[in-house]
Amino acid sequence: MSLRDPVPYARDSAGAQPPNDFPDYKSTIKRAPKQAPVRLQHTLTETTGPVFKRSWVGKSVADLTRQHKGEPLGERIIVAGRVLDEDGRPVPGTLVEMWQANAAGRYAHPRDRHDAPLDRNFTGVGQVITDKDGNWRFITIKPGHYPWRNTYNAWRAQHLHFSVFGPAFATRVVTQMYFPGDPLLADDPIYNAIPDRQARERLVSVYDPNLSEAEWALGFRWNMVLRGREATPTE
Ligand SMILES: [Fe+2]
Repeated sequence: MSLRDPVPYARDSAGAQPPNDFPDYKSTIKRAPKQAPVRLQHTLTETTGPVFKRSWVGKSVADLTRQHKGEPLGERIIVAGRVLDEDGRPVPGTLVEMWQANAAGRYAHPRDRHDAPLDRNFTGVGQVITDKDGNWRFITIKPGHYPWRNTYNAWRAQHLHFSVFGPAFATRVVTQMYFPGDPLLADDPIYNAIPDRQARERLVSVYDPNLSEAEWALGFRWNMVLRGREATPTE
């Protein structure tokens, strides 16, 4: 690729991304732009991005159960997968960030006022760099459901928040990973804002007994695809 002639990234296919305005997800009503977006050509600014050295992330941030003196309460899980590009090739050396509620469904954040206990042994924030095959892996605890004021008696499906950069600013994805079989998925407006069912289901991880560790933790596998037909939807 010539720096003078950057190769544009594939555009998202119809229905694979949530609209800016999805009335069932109440806060989108006020924040969605009133005018149609202007489509920009991908230039060098969009087709290049930050480079992450392994030393960039701090220690122990791949294991969210070892960030404090004691172990957090909850169901210990291993969450792992790969970051792939639009042609299914691994994306090595890219930053994967993850943040989540604790097992009781509460974030360690001053604005979270949910009447559920904080866990002094759990912050709920992790960071890893993908290896040469695009692999990433976190050890954590399964997040609880939590209520939100979208509508009366609304509760979020269990989820982990993710940000992945990829090789360029145009490939950054901020999204949420869900768990298989969660009964709240059917009513979750953030999940259901993605019109295409197959695209939506890409956000649901798969229980993987080979990733589970005997007498220790359950494994859930989830791959992220940056752009292209199989692109992981944004939140
Ligand atoms: Fe959340």
